[in-house]
Amino acid sequence: MLPLAVVISGRGSNMEAIARTALAAGSPFKIVRVIADRESAGGLARATSLGIPVSVVPVRKFADRASFDAALAAELDASGARLVALAGFMRILSAEFVQRFEGRLLNIHPSLLPKYKGLDTHARALAAGDSHHGASVHFVTAELDGGPVIMQGRLRIGPGDTPDAVSARVHTLEHIIYPHVCTLIAQGRIEWRDGSVYFDGAPLASPLIEETDAAA
Ligand code: GRF
Repeated sequence: MLPLAVVISGRGSNMEAIARTALAAGSPFKIVRVIADRESAGGLARATSLGIPVSVVPVRKFADRASFDAALAAELDASGARLVALAGFMRILSAEFVQRFEGRLLNIHPSLLPKYKGLDTHARALAAGDSHHGASVHFVTAELDGGPVIMQGRLRIGPGDTPDAVSARVHTLEHIIYPHVCTLIAQGRIEWRDGSVYFDGAPLASPLIEETDAAA
């Protein structure tokens, strides 16, 4: 079974969705550790209640990004994880950290990348009048929200929507696609090869899509 660590800053609903998949019979991966960058992360209690070991690398105790990143890397190495899923982790990682975990580091971002990198993605999609929005699971590279996308969850949005309503629907999709990607990687069906994504042995030309017609 592929050992996976999940790194969070907040409530950890994606972590929980990944954990529930990991705990189901026949899962090809298991969660060996949930790590938060702050004691207040709500996901820590969720993880503990699921029997998953947790640890905190408190960001406020580190003088700079390099020392925090080194401590996080050491914690991940100690956990034995071979795949790392960032799930609502609200810090930018250094190029050195990303390089060290190249091909083993995933993130989920609440937009149809390459659209809307960064924050406030739901409001930006609505303000632009987009007909579709969603979430993307991607390998992490040194470019923020810029690594190769593996899978996207797409849904319709409309003029009657609010950022909060869209956020709730996007979260529902996130909880499907993130565990799905972890499973595909653990099965060896998704692979990172020299900066590109391969699916079933062939280059992935465009992201895998999970679509819902859930309208506004
Ligand atoms: C998700 O919307 C994810 O796309 C973004 O942060 C949020 C985390 O939510 N990166 P949760 O903590 O998993 O509930």
